[in-house]
Amino acid sequence: MSEYQIETHSETETVRIAESLALLLKPGDVVTLEGDLGAGKTTFTKGLANGLGIKRTVNSPTFTIIKEYHGEMPLYHMDVYRLEDSDEDIGFEEYFGGDGICVIEWAHFIQDYLPAEYLNIKISYIDDRTRLLAFFPKGVHFESVAADVIG
Ligand SMILES: Nc1ncnc2c1ncn2[C@@H]1O[C@H](COP(=O)(O)OP(=O)(O)OP(=O)(O)O)[C@@H](O)[C@H]1O
Ligand SMILES: [Mg+2]
Repeated sequence: MSEYQIETHSETETVRIAESLALLLKPGDVVTLEGDLGAGKTTFTKGLANGLGIKRTVNSPTFTIIKEYHGEMPLYHMDVYRLEDSDEDIGFEEYFGGDGICVIEWAHFIQDYLPAEYLNIKISYIDDRTRLLAFFPKGVHFESVAADVIG
């Protein structure tokens, strides 16, 4: 169980949590999103984008692995679902610790490439409108970020 968890009761509430998270992130930060199909990973990413002042519509990068958005700082939105069972090296390391924020849907498929410190968020479906967002911070920076968002 996570020390930092919250239930949301609408898409808008999930977006708001992500917006408040975005304000606490700094360039190079990595956020990983786990959760079943339709859990709300892309919805959460939309909130991060809003929080960074990105005006373009964020949608799932189905045919591309990485989409870039430009706001207060770059947002690199990765959906690595299609990398399951593949050893393809996309050069993620160039993005991690770089000039922008990386948000990764289905990050467990690239577990071996993840940096030492990042914020893992698990989104669980409770019912039609309700989701449980559980934050699992790795490292002191993300520990304090999680406490600020949830606390
Ligand atoms: N509390 C909630 N938080 C987030 N989304 C919600 C909530 N309640 C309902 N929804 C709905 O759940 C759906 C989430 O879809 P979304 O594309 O964000 O999921 P996903 O995890 O990215 O799925 P995929 O694995 O297909 O990429 C949206 O249709 C959204 O409106
Ligand atoms: Mg998605």
